[in-house]
Amino acid sequence: MRLSSRLPQGFEPNALTAVLARLKAEGRELVDLTVSNPTRCGFAYPEVEIRAALSQPTVLNYDPDPLGSRTAREAIAAHHGHGLRTEDLLLTASTSEGYGLLFKLLGDPGDEVLVPSPSYPLFDWLARLEGLRAHSVPSYFHERWHLDLDALETAIAPRTRALVVVNPNNPTGHFLSQTEWRGLTELCARRGLALLVDEVFADYALEAPSDRLATALLDADPPCPVFLLSGLSKVAALPQLKLGWIAVHGPGAAAYLEALAFLADQYLSVSAPVQAAAPTLLALAPGIREQVRTRLQANLRTLDSALAPHPHLSRLPVEGGWSVLLHRPAVDPDEACALRLLEATSTLVHPGSFFDLPGDGHLVISLLTPEAIFREGLGRIFPLL
Ligand SMILES: Cc1ncc(COP(=O)(O)O)c(C=O)c1O
Repeated sequence: MRLSSRLPQGFEPNALTAVLARLKAEGRELVDLTVSNPTRCGFAYPEVEIRAALSQPTVLNYDPDPLGSRTAREAIAAHHGHGLRTEDLLLTASTSEGYGLLFKLLGDPGDEVLVPSPSYPLFDWLARLEGLRAHSVPSYFHERWHLDLDALETAIAPRTRALVVVNPNNPTGHFLSQTEWRGLTELCARRGLALLVDEVFADYALEAPSDRLATALLDADPPCPVFLLSGLSKVAALPQLKLGWIAVHGPGAAAYLEALAFLADQYLSVSAPVQAAAPTLLALAPGIREQVRTRLQANLRTLDSALAPHPHLSRLPVEGGWSVLLHRPAVDPDEACALRLLEATSTLVHPGSFFDLPGDGHLVISLLTPEAIFREGLGRIFPLL
């Protein structure tokens, strides 16, 4: 069998996933402090309304538009506000698909995209599967996270095509500051790069500084092309419905959208039911987000109380998003620590190394975890850290 070199050399699970599978097979009662699937977190979804929205008569019509249905795009434009227009939007089946389309749009095989790290680990594969390379450039932490704009500029090579940022970032929660935004857009304009901004977590500001860039849409006239990505998986905590979108603004936006429509036309991957339901789902979203936000805040309070008797442990500020970085003495590598905790306490945490956190001493835990499970998990792992 000959497979494309874009694929991994093998499909073996990593050590943590392998141990997890073994413990599950042994019937261990596991506590998962990494849960990021909101449909498994005990939120009270407005089920009747969601089902009704997905079973309207119009779901039986097939009326494909490569940009996505106008009514769905109108509802998304209204959700974002800040002057976003229906015609600036293209629908996708997920943010991941959005990245795939943008990488096809902007790069040739062998080209590069720059990604400040730590960040969302999927970028590496999403880029590789389009024949591109994701080049990480470390950000640094000094009281808060900072992009290293000089290092980003130095990393730009002849084949660099775009820069990808997540605002607020996963897993660090870092919101770009308005100064960082200006620096990024000027850098991209000067060096001819597109700027991709993933704002799936933008509605989840927690301990956000006042100078944060709440959304890239606040910049009505960026000097470089800006592609904003988002979707229902975080905006309405409905990842199973598979609806994402790309908003395009800045120089050349209309021509980029025309080319994106050509790409999307080859797939037409967004289902009619979710497009028909989008206006209702977005109308229901604030109530769902409020439950998520209440959970995030409650777990953060629980974490702070649990940390108080353990002065050798601490957490980093959570400007936004669904996760928190726990800081521990780096007595062993992060992955070894996560394996040790899983074996000894049946509790799953993610090592910082999964997200390219520099050095050792960081574990990533999800603030989405149901509150009783979150408390139980912290109680199990803290004595071993
Ligand atoms: C930064 C970031 N972008 C995108 C996604 C996934 O979005 P989607 O389900 O729309 O592909 C995630 C999921 O965790 C994420 O963390």
